[in-house]
Amino acid sequence: MTDVPTSNGRSISVDPRLHEYALAHSTQPDAVQRALIDATNRAAAEHAGMRISHDEGTFLTLLTQLSGARFAVEVGTFTGYSALCIARGLPDDRDGGRLLCCDVSEEWTSIGREHWEQAGVADRIEVRIAPAIETLRALPDEPVIDLAFIDADKESYIAYWDELVPRMRPGGVLLVDNTLWHGRVTDADPDETTREITAFNDHAAADDRVDLVVLTLSDGVTMARRR
Ligand SMILES: C[S@@+](CC[C@H](N)C(=O)[O-])C[C@H]1O[C@@H](n2cnc3c(N)ncnc32)[C@H](O)[C@@H]1O
Repeated sequence: MTDVPTSNGRSISVDPRLHEYALAHSTQPDAVQRALIDATNRAAAEHAGMRISHDEGTFLTLLTQLSGARFAVEVGTFTGYSALCIARGLPDDRDGGRLLCCDVSEEWTSIGREHWEQAGVADRIEVRIAPAIETLRALPDEPVIDLAFIDADKESYIAYWDELVPRMRPGGVLLVDNTLWHGRVTDADPDETTREITAFNDHAAADDRVDLVVLTLSDGVTMARRR
């Protein structure tokens, strides 16, 4: 990081009306996505806030398509909304694209499975029910991953990053959710989870194997490209 002020001092403050306007002028959820949002609200009501927002989901689909990713890894699947969005961006050709989902909950990911089937992408998705660190360590020690999305337990973000970065293909894209943590990352007296997120942000920003930007999309999304 640098002490030289590199910002041009400009930043849009997104008030609720402006945010609604941006959402209204973005791709809207289709029938399967609406059904999955409903199913998540019914089955996992008190945890439903863990689902990524629809605009972030659209961003995941676009980036998966734009990067031409064929093999993607997701850490933290819950009821499968982000997985649905990534899987939809994978190629549907003869060799097919593949998404490996890491989670510890059979119950939540099975809700995703029903909707992945409805969307016609279930055959691209494999779920491993195990601590994600074990699943990542069992992957080949080679740069085989085109796109990775981290959205699980915050205390393990650095460990997930350190397993994923060496396995990313040059030019591969890493995305990390919640990196602005409801704006708490600048708190003077941060709580434990906020400290985990800021430690991750410092770790990623100092990593010269990637170029990255922290986007103010949703709850903060770090987008990195493996050099
Ligand atoms: C924020 S949610 C993921 C939301 C999901 N990306 C979506 O869009 O709906 C976090 C998920 O991480 C999973 N999780 C928590 N600790 C984990 C661990 N050690 N290994 C694997 N998954 C874990 C939880 O079961 C939960 O489903």
